[in-house]
Amino acid sequence: MNIIGICGSLRQKSINHFALEAAAKAMPSGMQLEILSIKDVPLYNQDVQNAGFPDAVQTLAQAILKADGVLIASPEYNFSYSGVLKNAIDWWSRMDPAPFKHKPVAIMSATGGPLGGARSQYDLRKVLSGGLEALVLQRPEIFIGMAQNKFGADGALNDEATVKMLETQMQAFQSWILKLSPKA
Ligand SMILES: Cc1cc2nc3c(=O)[nH]c(=O)nc-3n(C[C@H](O)[C@H](O)[C@H](O)COP(=O)(O)O)c2cc1C
Repeated sequence: MNIIGICGSLRQKSINHFALEAAAKAMPSGMQLEILSIKDVPLYNQDVQNAGFPDAVQTLAQAILKADGVLIASPEYNFSYSGVLKNAIDWWSRMDPAPFKHKPVAIMSATGGPLGGARSQYDLRKVLSGGLEALVLQRPEIFIGMAQNKFGADGALNDEATVKMLETQMQAFQSWILKLSPKA
């Protein structure tokens, strides 16, 4: 079962990127994660689209189309998810075939504050479900608050409760994918 990981933060020491790496370790056997970056996705412009989708957009879309599922981790920016992620989603939403249509997706967020991105995830869930017709795992939800205390400078996840949460969500995600596409 091949899962694509997308991070809503572009910075090198992103805790959301660290969370994706921790999720990869928490995956049950038979499931593997490949994290792809959206850093080369240009700003959405319909004129550019009309001339042809940019390479970075197409490469990511192909990988998503082929994958059994997508795992997204995004920081909360001003009570919503990040603009760079929304920008990439806007590109993908214009493509045919639609890379996220009926694609199993799981989401998580990590922030420095106590709420762990709770205010942002319902925006992301709404856009993925309504705009892109993705099949987003409902539960368990993962909000990693005070994340700077849970990950070391090297990115290692040191918090046992968060490890357990990730393991539980990854098992639920595996079951969700199998339920939706039994051949995965
Ligand atoms: C533009 C901006 C807006 C932010 N807004 C919020 C916010 O609304 N809620 C929150 O909990 N943290 C907010 N933060 C703090 C982020 O949660 C924190 O910087 C986090 O580490 C970013 O994720 P990353 O480490 O994956 O880059 C904001 C940070 C930035 C740069």
